[in-house]
Amino acid sequence: MSNHPIQADEPAAKVRTVSESRSEYSELCLPSSANLLGNMLGGHVMHLVDLCGAIAGVRHSRSSIVTASVDQMTFLHPVHLGDLLMLKSQVNRVFRTSMEVGVKVWVENLRTGELRHTSSAYLTFVGLDKQGNRIVLPQIVAETDEEQRRWREAAERRAYRLAFKDKARLPGQ
Ligand SMILES: CC(C)(COP(=O)(O)OP(=O)(O)OC[C@H]1O[C@@H](n2cnc3c(N)ncnc32)[C@H](O)[C@@H]1OP(=O)(O)O)[C@@H](O)C(=O)NCCC(=O)NCCS
Repeated sequence: MSNHPIQADEPAAKVRTVSESRSEYSELCLPSSANLLGNMLGGHVMHLVDLCGAIAGVRHSRSSIVTASVDQMTFLHPVHLGDLLMLKSQVNRVFRTSMEVGVKVWVENLRTGELRHTSSAYLTFVGLDKQGNRIVLPQIVAETDEEQRRWREAAERRAYRLAFKDKARLPGQ
């Protein structure tokens, strides 16, 4: 049974644009978030991805949200002590009570100015009201060609992750 009953008769109140959700987050790589090699911990990068994704999700929904899933993540380059990690996020598509958010991560070597794309991730967030009931989220308008491409592709990613979720269930769950 669902932990979060849906307020089924609550209409999606507003329509917002992708650009209204667009968000940024930056953090300097300090020893407190680094491993013994002096590189930022992968788990810390994932935490920042979740935060930056959530900011875009809350900007879109103007409600509380929870992370339902995070798609596969790859770390292409290490983040060294003193590097600046920069994250950008936006809502790609709204389904009903859930939405897909894309987060892209860059690392800047502040001494040389070299900028490298190090990770990308897709997260799904679900909107909840103050009682913890799922809510129908405002729909989203994808305005540019790039936003429309992401909007279309989000449907394929959703089908994949929901099929994967069903496969991951243990018998009796
Ligand atoms: C995510 C959660 C809200 C799903 O709620 P639920 O009551 O089980 O409801 P449903 O399974 O019907 O799913 C609700 C929505 O989430 C989507 N969803 C659920 N699981 C998903 C998954 N693994 N990946 C993508 N979407 C998912 C559903 O497709 C549905 O979306 P829609 O309304 O837009 O069609 C619930 O499982 C939960 O609270 N999980 C813990 C969240 C949390 O605490 N996260 C922080 C990390 S611990």
